[in-house]
Amino acid sequence: MHDKVKEDFPIDWEADQYVCRREFLKFMTLASGGLAVGSVSIAALSRLRRSGAQPAAVFVCTSDELRTTGWREFFYPGTEDPCIVVQLKSGKVAAYSRRCTHLSCPVLWQAKNDRFYCPCHNGAFSAEDGSVLQGPPPRPLTRVILDIRGGEIWAVGIESER
Ligand code: FES
Repeated sequence: MHDKVKEDFPIDWEADQYVCRREFLKFMTLASGGLAVGSVSIAALSRLRRSGAQPAAVFVCTSDELRTTGWREFFYPGTEDPCIVVQLKSGKVAAYSRRCTHLSCPVLWQAKNDRFYCPCHNGAFSAEDGSVLQGPPPRPLTRVILDIRGGEIWAVGIESER
């Protein structure tokens, strides 16, 4: 029986564990590329904050859409910058970058506790002001400035570092 399996599936298990140089370099290139994109976007966001200039306004969703789900994801200021807008229990609307300030994992909305949770290292942030509630994040979440225009929610800027 065992020989029949080996015959049908002729896998050289020692070779299967072998990672060739090309595969290793491909992995390293992809990993480096990901880190470079993340670093460039963080640097661009920091430069924007220091300059005081605000990016162009972006439509997020309507107030009715937000009421339906309680939260929406959008991208601001660029198409690579994930953000989240939420409706707090108090009815207040708030928006933040979804990038955890520790190692940039995407934070998750926990409506029951009015907070954002980062599953990577058990971090948490207040949805009231973005402040760190627990875990290793060194700074509050980056807040997105909103403008409500006749039932439409617009992202109009990034709050400077607190
Ligand atoms: S990346 Fe969020 S707590 Fe580490």
